[in-house]
Amino acid sequence: MANDHEEDFKDEKNPRPLDEDDIALLKTYGLGPYSTSIKNAEKEIKDMAKKVNDLCGIKESDTGLAAPSQWDLVADKQMMQEEQPLQVARCTKIINPNSEDAKYVINVKQIAKFVVGLGDKVSPTDIEEGMRVGVDRNKYQIQIPLPPKIDPSVTMMTVEEKPDVTYNDVGGCKEQIEKMREVVELPMLHPEKFVKLGIDPPKGVLCYGPPGTGKTLLARAVANRTDACFIRVIGSELVQKYVGEGARMVRELFQMARSKKACIVFFDEVDAIGGARFDDGVGGDNEVQRTMLEIVNQLDGFDARGNIKVLMATNRPDTLDPALLRPGRLDRKVEFGLPDLESRTQIFKIHTRTMNCERDIRFELLARLCPNSTGADIRSVCTEAGMYAIRARRKTVTEKDFLDAVNKVIKGYQKFSATPKYMVYN
Ligand SMILES: Nc1ncnc2c1ncn2[C@@H]1O[C@H](COP(=O)(O)OP(=O)(O)O)[C@@H](O)[C@H]1O
Ligand SMILES: [Mg+2]
Repeated sequence: MANDHEEDFKDEKNPRPLDEDDIALLKTYGLGPYSTSIKNAEKEIKDMAKKVNDLCGIKESDTGLAAPSQWDLVADKQMMQEEQPLQVARCTKIINPNSEDAKYVINVKQIAKFVVGLGDKVSPTDIEEGMRVGVDRNKYQIQIPLPPKIDPSVTMMTVEEKPDVTYNDVGGCKEQIEKMREVVELPMLHPEKFVKLGIDPPKGVLCYGPPGTGKTLLARAVANRTDACFIRVIGSELVQKYVGEGARMVRELFQMARSKKACIVFFDEVDAIGGARFDDGVGGDNEVQRTMLEIVNQLDGFDARGNIKVLMATNRPDTLDPALLRPGRLDRKVEFGLPDLESRTQIFKIHTRTMNCERDIRFELLARLCPNSTGADIRSVCTEAGMYAIRARRKTVTEKDFLDAVNKVIKGYQKFSATPKYMVYN
């Protein structure tokens, strides 16, 4: 014992250099019992993932662009210089199809018709009769097949910039949000669940309810949420001057939707076109009905498991054509009711989030003072409260302002409220 102690003492003065075992021991200091095996497993997983990625090869990214490391800007520039601009023509007929000396009749608009051959880069299988093609300007040989032409006013309906509304900006409406997500997000994210069960997911949703209850708002939140292409159509846009135009627009709209990877089509204020069919004796509204029938037709046409979802919104579900609503077309009907007390409190909080308010405003009391009011009413109350503060040249909004605003908006405009009238209709 004493000997040991002495040795220790001597070591302290003239420490023995650490050997490998000691260093290994020191390194394990602070590590758990399984650290090394976990680390090894992680490394293995990483290697495996890398191997899988390598085997998969080049993958498509969300944006459709290759990774920047694979860009070849110089070659692209050179290609752009070499290639001549092409002319658009329509291939009207193929002579001797499926043979060596196949010839193509093309129609260059307002110039002439030609019988031409194919360019070097197109294969005969790419070209069909009635297709739009790109031809060069010298020999009018077909250089590329072109996608079908889509009306620019239809193309304009795609929502490019996502709205900045999220589900958090929708007060209440829990159930509605749930239902929407189930129909819109689940089939897009987990289509295999539906395949396994052997059912078709719902193709679309109809949102109905009094004006100002957040139907459009929720659709915008959905648009913000999904990466899918979002097309917004307002019913009245489809009502056109000439016979057949509206139906053609609907057709082109769905054609465009089908060409996307995933797409949500939102028809707002659908009562403009979706009214029940009736005979007014004059036939004036036939055009509108034809548009609606085309929608019905398109709804039947596309595959439910495909990535197109249709949302519709209206204040007047009673006027809609039952054909539009029959199961298999718009299977889901989501009602937007008037918000309850809790939802109203939440909506108050949402709309005052950005306002410069006094602290401790009793939103629940305010919500209690606005029975039977919609989200839009509450938003109006908040704006009006702000107006009161501005009139009094104050920088913050007080609770009294809110109470005055409630008096003015809810009590004063009662005669204008659309909601009781709506309730009578239903
Ligand atoms: N549940 C809600 N939560 C928050 N704001 C709402 C809600 N409902 C309506 N609003 C407000 O009312 C406005 C109008 O709602 P909107 O969705 O356009 O009504 P509609 O149901 O008639 O389409 C919205 O922009 C929003 O500011
Ligand atoms: Mg709306």
